[in-house]
Amino acid sequence: MRSVGIVGTGSYLPDKVLSNADLAKFVDTNDEWIASRTGIRQRHIAEKDMPTSELCYQAGLRALEDAQIVPEEIDLIIVATMTPDYAFPATACLVADRLGAKNAAAFDLEAACSGFIFALATASQFVATGMYKTVLVIGGEVLSKILNWEDRSTCILFGDGAGAAVLQAVKEGFGFLSFELGADGSGGKLLSQPAGGSKCPASLETVGKNLHTLQMEGREVYKFAVRIMGDVSVKVLEKAGIKKEDVDLFLPHQANTRIIDAAVKRLGISPDKVVVNLDKYGNMSAASIPVALDEAVKARRITEGDTIVMVGFGAGLTWGACVLKWTKVGLKV
Ligand code: UT7
Repeated sequence: MRSVGIVGTGSYLPDKVLSNADLAKFVDTNDEWIASRTGIRQRHIAEKDMPTSELCYQAGLRALEDAQIVPEEIDLIIVATMTPDYAFPATACLVADRLGAKNAAAFDLEAACSGFIFALATASQFVATGMYKTVLVIGGEVLSKILNWEDRSTCILFGDGAGAAVLQAVKEGFGFLSFELGADGSGGKLLSQPAGGSKCPASLETVGKNLHTLQMEGREVYKFAVRIMGDVSVKVLEKAGIKKEDVDLFLPHQANTRIIDAAVKRLGISPDKVVVNLDKYGNMSAASIPVALDEAVKARRITEGDTIVMVGFGAGLTWGACVLKWTKVGLKV
């Protein structure tokens, strides 16, 4: 098996910014409540005519530039999203077409906010076995289009964006050291978009009842998140044989600063080793971790040889984490 790493990253946020004060103009909320309960101060929102594939294309393009590879070199594109352009065709196929990735297979993967970690784990298998040399993994969401903008308990939390990573073989001892993935469907109802699928197809009634929007039992998801973030981080480090003292950067899913603080406390990692950007972007589901990763790389918070931990949780319920020893030097084998 080959060692597999990330040899390029990119991200894209739509221009339009919606602050907490902007939100307070049309829903019963305020900056103080949102900032103190979640840490969020603003979020980016896609224009009406901007679908998830557009954000993913822009992030993918930047990741390819960063990795210095051309679209024809990509063997596979995986898009992690819960807000695809369509139920079908897959958003990944649309992105492949926009990029001109003529030699790539393409499919979507849905594991909600854990999607990027699940997609990294999936992509890395193809490279590790030698089936593919180069895989583009993208996490992208336009959550603003599935929110109920009259429900203050959910609409204040989310934002739009996309982040991407190019995976290739890297030198031994570098790249992904371990993955830990999990799911518990008994918690599926805690966070869902109830209508539009085969269980509850679209009808005038489903539209009237707002069943095409995101529904969440926030407190229950919060309790799950606090428990699972700590548990899965401990497990993935054990699997990799890495001590918590040797972690250089912790990149958690960006849902709520209180959830991140609890996980960091449980792990006993110093807060200056933790990436937090949800104040600027809110929760971007599958895009949160790759955007945070790209920003950390570009800000030189991650350099050759660093050990980083990425951990996510979300609807499903799902959770996932990985340990990565950083190098951007790909082996073109
Ligand atoms: O990616 C995974 C997706 N989801 C998550 O990670 C979300 C996890 N859950 C959370 O982060 C938190 O549960 C929330 C931020 C969603 C909510 O925070 P909370 O501290 O659990 O608040 P709560 O739902 O218990 O509500 C407390 C109060 C309620 O008022 P009463 O009943 O105490 O009078 C709510 O009506 O706050 C009220 N409230 C608000 N007030 C102002 C709820 N939303 C708002 C709001 N503005 N936006």
